[in-house]
Amino acid sequence: MSLVVFGSLKDAPGVTTLVTCVAYQWPRHRRVALVEADADGGSVAPRFGLHPERPSLVSFVAVSRHGLSESEFWSACQRLPGGPPVLVAPGGASTAAALEQIDFGALDRSLSDTDLLVDAGRLRAAEPQARLCEQADFVVVVVRPRFESLAVLLDRAEELSAHGPLLAVVVGDGSYPVSEIDGALRQTTGDRAWVLATVSGDSRGAAGLAGDGRRERALGRSRLARTVRPVTDLLVHLCSAGMPVLSRPEGT
Ligand SMILES: Nc1ncnc2c1ncn2[C@@H]1O[C@H](COP(=O)(O)OP(=O)(O)OP(=O)(O)O)[C@@H](O)[C@H]1O
Ligand SMILES: [Mg+2]
Repeated sequence: MSLVVFGSLKDAPGVTTLVTCVAYQWPRHRRVALVEADADGGSVAPRFGLHPERPSLVSFVAVSRHGLSESEFWSACQRLPGGPPVLVAPGGASTAAALEQIDFGALDRSLSDTDLLVDAGRLRAAEPQARLCEQADFVVVVVRPRFESLAVLLDRAEELSAHGPLLAVVVGDGSYPVSEIDGALRQTTGDRAWVLATVSGDSRGAAGLAGDGRRERALGRSRLARTVRPVTDLLVHLCSAGMPVLSRPEGT
């Protein structure tokens, strides 16, 4: 159904934390899979107690040489504990090589009843991330509200919204009001990019989600999960509608 790509432009603002929480919150009536597509990643397996390589994105790409198969995809997925299927990636050279080869647009088309949530890590302007962003229905960029991060966001916003809506999720507090970030994004891109929502800074919730024994509590009651919920709901709405809705975040 939809290909939603999550990434960052600077630092480590919490992409993996956000996308895993969104994956857990995705409604059961929609089929969903989380895909780790970050050559600098290798984060999902250790955080969720999964095998880093068997199976993984790398093994999936190896068996897909002669074409993508839906059943091979599901066989290559593991499962987040108590959550949805996930295709993990070990990170490093093998993941980088697999990312060069895989065609996410074709994968999305072959999984016609599935929403794919992709953790792309750093959204570099070069391949393969550039191609992945072009193929996405929506690109979600995670950003901290700090000058140096916002400067990069505004610099890249036009390019990243050239093929579809660019949705910013602002994590934590900073000196820049969300309304200003939203206004600057809209102005720079002619309303093709905007702030989707804000997510609280909650290091306890993020650590709980990452598996220090408090995952259920983190998913159920943390400030992180509560503030990620609108992100999930808005994304589900956008994916269902199949077209951008120019929503305004709270407080703008
Ligand atoms: N909303 C949040 N509030 C507080 N801390 C957070 C939040 N989200 C993530 N973190 C913390 O920030 C660190 C980086 O998080 P995460 O790995 O999700 O970021 P990332 O953007 O995926 O990083 P990378 O680029 O290394 O993959 C972790 O220690 C995590 O616990
Ligand atoms: Mg990450």
